[in-house]
Amino acid sequence: MKKVYLETFGCQMNVSDSERVSTLLAARGFEITRTEDTADVVLLNTCSVREKAEHKLYTRVGQIRNSKKKPALGIMGCVAQLEGETLFEKAPGIDFILGTKALGRVPEAIEAATKKKKRFIDLGEREENYDWSVSPLQRHSPHIAFLPIMEGCNKFCTYCIVPFSRGREKSLPAAQIIAQILQLRRQGIKEIHLIGQNVNSYRPKTEAGLENFRGATLFSRLLRAAAATGVERIKFTTSFPRDFHPDIVAAINENENLCNWVHLPVQSGSDKILKAMRRGHNVDNYLRRVDVIKNSPRKISLTTDVIVGFPGETIEDFEATIRLFEYCQYDSTYIFKYSVRQGTPASQFSDDVTKAEKTRRFIELEQIQKRIQSKIFASMLNQIVEVLVEKQSSKSSEDLSGHTTCHKVVNFKGDLELLGKIAKIKITDSKNNSLYGTVL
Ligand code: SAH
Ligand code: SF4
Ligand code: F3S
Repeated sequence: MKKVYLETFGCQMNVSDSERVSTLLAARGFEITRTEDTADVVLLNTCSVREKAEHKLYTRVGQIRNSKKKPALGIMGCVAQLEGETLFEKAPGIDFILGTKALGRVPEAIEAATKKKKRFIDLGEREENYDWSVSPLQRHSPHIAFLPIMEGCNKFCTYCIVPFSRGREKSLPAAQIIAQILQLRRQGIKEIHLIGQNVNSYRPKTEAGLENFRGATLFSRLLRAAAATGVERIKFTTSFPRDFHPDIVAAINENENLCNWVHLPVQSGSDKILKAMRRGHNVDNYLRRVDVIKNSPRKISLTTDVIVGFPGETIEDFEATIRLFEYCQYDSTYIFKYSVRQGTPASQFSDDVTKAEKTRRFIELEQIQKRIQSKIFASMLNQIVEVLVEKQSSKSSEDLSGHTTCHKVVNFKGDLELLGKIAKIKITDSKNNSLYGTVL
């Protein structure tokens, strides 16, 4: 039996794609191994969102090429889609390349590369009958499932490569999504993440499956339909600010199992920069959405993504981002230094913020967020929260950890029997990024 080792970089969509690739390969008689040394085939599922992410691919190809066993090497994911044929030259040692829509044909690619000893490349479209399900054995977590509800992106923010690597937005049928949620629930899954580049731009071809659910948008109808399955917890990422309708907050308030967390990437606090990014929102209408979230009767946590050092970002623009951070009081943030992506509109702009200045802004914003966050986390002392017990800590076997419904990490001591259960935890201590507590 051929052993396949699969390594995943990038976003949840890649994690989810890898789960389906493993499911397919296991069904076709391959063994999915967790150790690289014994593998006959190594698959790298790659990310292209920033230069650093892309660079990992080249480092890994070098290492694998120099390994003793010399496995067949396949590249999938966003770098594969974008670079195509040129990857064979850029990173010698690659045997096959599969684009982001060609994953359903991974067995054929391995066959071609190993038996026929021929380079193979497939950047083609997804099959009509592509199987979106994942075998429980191949899930990244035994307790949490990622469920794509849409793929691709039509937004074309000027800095972003994703619309080029993932193609146009395509929503999956609601009836199929609901059927999958029901199946996951039967399998004992406690938490489902509805995933997509812009989940709230959800727009399936038909309303089938949503007939009995009201709502201002198809996405909020889907949320209500998902909640009605009775699955314990539902989270969703990422929300696109322009399409963030207040009805999403209403749906969260109506349904306990729709978790109290919204990830709403702002990218910048300056209208000038937002316009150059072509984000489709300005500071004012972003903050109006934030106010709806903050004024919700049920407390909802708010997280974001932001880019510092975008072309043309002055100190004044950066200070506007700081003010926005002070206003929004985010529960957590991902801060990125702008990274030029070839082929995007912004690659034509002058990358005029120096590397050192990007780093300086990154650190300054990080410090500010640290202060905001430690205050928010400290305010949770003595609160009782519900945590899905996800895993043992890497440091010690009796240290367990999991997330709250508001998506904060909580660490605590407890019995392994708690794994996969939802535990009531009293918060006893807090650090910048995590909470500590005791099981009640
Ligand atoms: N669809 C989501 C996520 C896109 S990628 C959204 O619209 O928000 C995740 C994050 O990477 C983005 O939110 C953005 O902050 C960051 N990002 C994307 N392209 C980037 C680039 N060229 N340089 C730096 N950060 C980037
Ligand atoms: Fe990229 Fe913008 Fe699409 Fe998000 S919405 S994936 S940032 S183009
Ligand atoms: Fe990266 Fe592609 Fe996701 S570029 S962030 S793996 S969609």
